[in-house]
Amino acid sequence: MRTPVIAGNWKMNNCVQESIKFIKTALPMIEGILGVEIILCPPFTALHAINKMVFNTSLKLGAQNMYFETKGAYTGEISPVMLRELCDYVILGHSERRLYFQETDELINKKILSAFEVKLIPIFCVGERLIENESGQTQNVIYKQLTAGLKNVTPSSNIIIAYEPVWAIGTGKAATAIEANETIRLIRETLIQLWGSLVAKQVRILYGGSITPVNIAELLRQPELDGGLVGGASLKARDFTDIVSLAYKIKHAR
Ligand code: PGA
Repeated sequence: MRTPVIAGNWKMNNCVQESIKFIKTALPMIEGILGVEIILCPPFTALHAINKMVFNTSLKLGAQNMYFETKGAYTGEISPVMLRELCDYVILGHSERRLYFQETDELINKKILSAFEVKLIPIFCVGERLIENESGQTQNVIYKQLTAGLKNVTPSSNIIIAYEPVWAIGTGKAATAIEANETIRLIRETLIQLWGSLVAKQVRILYGGSITPVNIAELLRQPELDGGLVGGASLKARDFTDIVSLAYKIKHAR
């Protein structure tokens, strides 16, 4: 069985003090939960302070982005080596990066390759836009994002893939459990083509987009979903920890 994952993506929210307060509230509520990989991705500026607080707990940290070069004259960028000191995961290819910062499949591919070099686990996001969904392009779009993003990547189960339909992110309109399950099944089929079934069947594939403590249960009852990438609902300690608890109950009830 694949260990379920619940990852929180705070996006550009929470200063250092707010982040510390969140961890103080959330940690006691999830401390006893083993068997779910719990990841929080705060802004870069909070990573250092939180890193000390979660040391030796079941809460792991990730970043929300990085540059692919390890060091040098790249004003304003953060390198994989710098992140490795502070966290274990990095979200790459998020649709907000693709949309607002013009990140291409090629750039995302470089970042994924570079994350592997320092043993940061990429949380690689793929997903179609509304217009693509409505015109029946979902499968093609995701196939292209996956094959381009994973180009020259050595097959590895140390990657997490997040299916995040762009139309479901921050809109309150999550994909239905059936829809999410079907697309994730197609993602795994593509992975099997690329990497062979042995590795592909070990890779965790998450759903993301308007997850709440209310809709998470039905989503996670689907066999193809290994967990969730949670944006808005990860900003409230209670909601985030409720989602983690539900993930534990549902995935370990099988
Ligand atoms: P949301 O964001 O849960 O607020 O829709 C998800 C994401 O962007 O990862």
